[in-house]
Amino acid sequence: MTSSVVISGSGLWKPDNSISNEELVVAYNAYAEQFNQQHQKEIKQGELEPKPLSSAEFIEKASGIKSRYIYVKDGVLDIDRMRPNIPERAEEELSDQAEMAIHAAKDALKAANKTPEDIDAVIVSCAYTQRSYPALAIEVQGALGIKGFAFDMLVACSAATFALHRAYEMIVAGTAKTVLIINPELTSPQVNYCDRDSHFIFGDVSTAMVVESAETANAEHVFEILSTKAVTQYSNNIRSNFGYVSRANDADPFAADKLFHQEGRKVFKEVCPMAVEHISEHLARHQLSSENVSRWWLHQANINMNTFISRKLLDREPSLEEAPIILDTFANAASAGSIIAFNLYHKDLQSGDVGLLCSFGAGYSIGSLVLKKL
Ligand SMILES: CC(C)(COP(=O)(O)OP(=O)(O)OC[C@H]1O[C@@H](n2cnc3c(N)ncnc32)[C@H](O)[C@@H]1OP(=O)(O)O)[C@@H](O)C(=O)NCCC(=O)NCCS
Repeated sequence: MTSSVVISGSGLWKPDNSISNEELVVAYNAYAEQFNQQHQKEIKQGELEPKPLSSAEFIEKASGIKSRYIYVKDGVLDIDRMRPNIPERAEEELSDQAEMAIHAAKDALKAANKTPEDIDAVIVSCAYTQRSYPALAIEVQGALGIKGFAFDMLVACSAATFALHRAYEMIVAGTAKTVLIINPELTSPQVNYCDRDSHFIFGDVSTAMVVESAETANAEHVFEILSTKAVTQYSNNIRSNFGYVSRANDADPFAADKLFHQEGRKVFKEVCPMAVEHISEHLARHQLSSENVSRWWLHQANINMNTFISRKLLDREPSLEEAPIILDTFANAASAGSIIAFNLYHKDLQSGDVGLLCSFGAGYSIGSLVLKKL
C-alpha cells in the first residue's frame, strides 16, 4: 500500500478547426428558413412547428460560449447536411478517438516526465466511445507500446473525474503503479445541429492525466489527491438514446432522441444545489472551508452554473483567477472541461495550496477530488 497518490501531469489536445457562434447561427438560421419554407403547408395546417431562429447574443449570454473546437468542420455548416463529415477509417487504421487520445496522452506523459514504459494501466473515459470493442484504451495501449491492462469507461460528463477515482484506487490497492487516464471527447457527431436549444453547447477536445505514487513522481507540478468523492442520481433530463439496440427496435438510429437532448432549465435547477452540497461535504471531510481553496477547477457546461455554484460556496463573487472559465473558447467539452481548466491553470499554485476538481452532468453524476500541491 502506497502512502500518497498524485496527479503528476496533464495533457490537452485541441483540433485545428473551430466554429464561432456567428458561423454556427448563420448556418442554423439558413437551415431553419429552408426547413420552414419546405414545410410551409404542414406548418400552416398546424401539423408541424416552425423552426425558431437562433442568436449568437443569446448563446453567449445563456452559456458563456463564444466558439468551440471541432474535429471535422466539413459538413456542420452545410445546411443540407448539418453534421460533421468524418470519413470511416479502415479497421487497420488508427480510429479517430484513439488518435485524439494519443495526442493528449503524449502531452500528459511529457508533463509527468514519464515514458510509455512507465505506465501499466490505461483508462479511456469519455461521454461516448465510437465503438463497443475492442476497447479504445487497448488500441491506445497498443499504439503507445504500453504493457499492463487498459479499459474504457463511460460516465458522461463525469467520465474524467470517475476515471481519476479509479486510477487513485488502483494505485492504493497496488493493482497498478502508474495510470494514464485519457478523455477523447468527440462530441460533435452527437450534437443535433438542427436544434436551436442545443446546437451551440458542445466542442471537441482531448485531455489526459498521469496518476502515480508520490514515491515515483518526479515532475515539476505534482498534486497529491487528498481524497475522492462521487455521487449519482438517476435523471432523464440529459439523455441520448443512441445505442446498439436501435437496430432491433426498428427505430431510426439517427432520430433526434438518439442525439444529445436535455431539459436545460431543470438540469440547472437540480444539478447546481447537488454540486454545492457535494463539494461542501467533500471539503468538510478535510476540515476545509471554501476560503481554504485556492483554485476551483469546475466542470464547464455553462458559465451561469459555474458562477452560481462558486458564489454559493464562497458567499461572494468568485474571481476568474480562483475559478477559471474555459467555456468561451472550448464550449462544453463533456468530461474534459474541468481537466482543461486544471491543465491551463495549475502552474502558478504554490506548495501547500489546495484545489478542488469537480464534474457534474448527465446521470446525474458528480465527481470531485481535493488536491494539494506538493
Ligand atoms: C441550456 C441553457 C444554456 C439554456 O439557457 P436558458 O436561459 O435556460 O434558456 P431556455 O432554454 O430557458 O430558453 C430561454 C428562451 O430562449 C430561447 N432560446 C433557446 N435557445 C436559443 C437560441 N439558440 N437562440 C435564441 N433563443 C434561444 C428559448 O426558446 C426560450 O424562449 P422562450 O422564453 O420564448 O420560451 C441552460 O438551460 C443551461 O445552462 N442549462 C444547464 C445544463 C447544461 O448546460 N447542460 C449541458 C450538459 S451537462
